[in-house]
Amino acid sequence: MTLGLLALITALILAACSDDKETTPNDGANTGEESHENMDMHKEGSDSMEGMDGHMSHDEVVSLNDSTGENELKIPPVLEDESAKDEEIAYTVRAQKGETEIFDGIQTKTLGYNGAFLGPVLHLEKGDTVKIKLINELEEDTTFHWHGLEVPGDADGGPHATIKPGEEDIVEFKVTQEASTLWFHPHPEGSTSEQVYNGLAGLIYIEDENSKSLDLPNEYGQNDIPLVFQDKTFDDKHQLNYDAAMNEDGTIGETLLINGTLNPMLSVKKEKVRFRLLNGSNARNFTFKLNTGDSFEQIATDGGFLNEPVTLKEITLTPSERAEIIIDFSKLDIDDDLALINDEDGSILLPLQVSEQGGEDSNIPEKMNDFTITEEEMNLPVTKNVEFFGMMDKVTINGKKFDKDRIDFTQEQGVTEVWEFYNKPDDMGGMIHPIHIHGTQFKILSRNGEEPLENEQGWKDSFSLEPDETVKVAVQFKSKGVYMLHCHILEHEDNGMMSQVKVE
Ligand code: C2O
Ligand code: CU
Ligand code: CU
Repeated sequence: MTLGLLALITALILAACSDDKETTPNDGANTGEESHENMDMHKEGSDSMEGMDGHMSHDEVVSLNDSTGENELKIPPVLEDESAKDEEIAYTVRAQKGETEIFDGIQTKTLGYNGAFLGPVLHLEKGDTVKIKLINELEEDTTFHWHGLEVPGDADGGPHATIKPGEEDIVEFKVTQEASTLWFHPHPEGSTSEQVYNGLAGLIYIEDENSKSLDLPNEYGQNDIPLVFQDKTFDDKHQLNYDAAMNEDGTIGETLLINGTLNPMLSVKKEKVRFRLLNGSNARNFTFKLNTGDSFEQIATDGGFLNEPVTLKEITLTPSERAEIIIDFSKLDIDDDLALINDEDGSILLPLQVSEQGGEDSNIPEKMNDFTITEEEMNLPVTKNVEFFGMMDKVTINGKKFDKDRIDFTQEQGVTEVWEFYNKPDDMGGMIHPIHIHGTQFKILSRNGEEPLENEQGWKDSFSLEPDETVKVAVQFKSKGVYMLHCHILEHEDNGMMSQVKVE
């Protein structure tokens, strides 16, 4: 079925049953037990019917399977800096196809950067100028987008920066921002969701003088652990069948992978362990929590350290958001079965095994950053209003769908403006949209007129926008160029919930 026809049928069905949604037979097909039926219907090609129910509210999402903990968590490799050998190019990043043994003895077709599945970690240092060679070994167009990096528009890797199959490009930029955990992923117009789903995503770490002097846990893979959370659906041949799993309102799977590991577990020492959490899923929200209810400290947001650690019992990350947290395993009762769980559905994400062995004596400093929101910023008038509305393939920003040839907003380089975001509910209530702006780290000024929570008082590049919520944000771009602003439910992005900001 062609997309156009699909959209037409969906629209007709929607129109026909818009007021008796509750009584349609398919209602709730996205909840737990009915999900199989839902998936099977997909395979029979009745996507248009499924479409009606794909509109997810918070509690309608299919649950994640518990991790059985039978596999040791994989830690992504660190990408080697080649500049010692070749002064020109620091890194080579290739998008490629491959096969991965996710399930024992079975090869699953996947995509990856410099490997079969997912990507390595890119280590950048504030102040460095880096040249990266980008190679597209896929059979389709792709781009290389640096999510959270404050780089000129032409280095940002948005949908304009297409690299054709078999071709390559070189991107060069200076790292001007502070220590943080960012990520990279493709951004080709209309197929970002499928490429990310199939495995294209990697992490970027920025270090600076401050991060190196803070004495935080920083032994990569030992007490400084990246955790990339993604949910997938595997078909009966254990393959990722995006077309079958796809949901116009955001593809949700019942199988969790962390760093590409199925049924992961992690062994830690009795010490403070830093976790860099990335919600790298297409659409699922996670609320991370210890099953024991013990608290942890959040030390960083998307774009840098918080001023002070914030003690939390749980933290919610919508797609593309990151947080760094520290769990002090020397203070926990290790007789308990410990696990990181998802409070959205109670599923076990990552069983944790704490050895009796003591570890490093690292610190959580009282003061980590000097993030401030000035009086001036607080008092700036709103100069941009951005309204997110719709569902499925009818998602819009200010009533419009993405058009590559249209600039939706302009802003002057280096000038701070206050943007007001609003998530306009529909007659079904609406859903959370995770909002992301390229090329900038911004400040959340208020949520529904209230001061943001302590752990959002730091640099952000993505945030959750609840139905009927208004969020004010102070945005400044350091560089010029055309940047994307979009919903990070990747299917919403591909369906056109994306605008362009030109910075001059
Ligand atoms: Cu994660 Cu448009 O980006
Ligand atoms: Cu981005
Ligand atoms: Cu959305």
